[in-house]
Amino acid sequence: MPEYTVTSEIYGEYDYKTGMKPSREGNVISEFPFLLPKGNDKAQFDEDSDLDIERPQRNVIKIEHSSKTNISLVGLQVWRGAFLLGDLLIHLGLNGGLSGKTVLELGAGTGLTSFVAAIYAKKVVCTDIDLGGILELIKLNAKYNSKLIKSQFKVMPLDFTSTDWNVSLLDEIKRTDVIIASDVIYDDDVTAAFISTIQKILNTNPPKTIYIVLEKRYVFTIEHMDSVAPCYETFLALLDKVKIHSNWIVEQLPTDFPKYFTYDRVKDLVLWKITSKEISC
Ligand SMILES: C[S@@+](CC[C@H](N)C(=O)[O-])C[C@H]1O[C@@H](n2cnc3c(N)ncnc32)[C@H](O)[C@@H]1O
Repeated sequence: MPEYTVTSEIYGEYDYKTGMKPSREGNVISEFPFLLPKGNDKAQFDEDSDLDIERPQRNVIKIEHSSKTNISLVGLQVWRGAFLLGDLLIHLGLNGGLSGKTVLELGAGTGLTSFVAAIYAKKVVCTDIDLGGILELIKLNAKYNSKLIKSQFKVMPLDFTSTDWNVSLLDEIKRTDVIIASDVIYDDDVTAAFISTIQKILNTNPPKTIYIVLEKRYVFTIEHMDSVAPCYETFLALLDKVKIHSNWIVEQLPTDFPKYFTYDRVKDLVLWKITSKEISC
């Protein structure tokens, strides 16, 4: 069967491209801007009690990536969910929610959201399947963003379909407080393997929190005579099944926190939070 080529929607919405020379032919280097408040997020007053409005500081994340790939290598591109998750991490970070924490990213792709987490967390473990040079691309992008990365930063393979994880990965998982994943719900097999993975991770003490961002992708089917989001439906059905046998708190969160990155925060972007509790042996 022919493999289809896919292109992330975000490249057509804003021009992030730079003229910089990529390390690999066919790649491009883009700069994704984001604004951070100077100092802290709170209103400041000068000596005359006037509101002191400081201009937010413009930062960029520089990412080398592909502009199109086949489905099995979509991680070599940047997807919209990465920006919503990035916004959430900045929001949590500015409110102290990531200080002292170890963050583990699943299906990290180019590494963009892990780099955001690394501004605020104590340690970031950035993982993806070891396929198509993706882990090397993350390492290269980590070099491009070394000034931004303030935490310890580790890149490791983690394949959702693999059942035996090595000791060093299990050690990292045990030490993880927060897990993040964006746009890993786009294929039923990957979704099923992802749900098994989070089940395994969340059933490891101590308790952990996972934030999952996904974009509902609609297709029109003759069967339904309507537009449906089949991968999202699969995700909800599988999540429903596993949560019955767990003590997790599962919630869909509003996406009304500030927007720091430049992208279209479309209504089909959704955010889920799952929190596990101590498991008695
Ligand atoms: C659509 S991309 C999203 C990449 C990135 N998180 C983003 O939002 O830009 C899906 C990601 O899931 C990863 N993935 C697919 N199958 C996987 C598996 N079996 N184990 C781990 N990651 C997988 C891909 O390599 C890719 O990085």
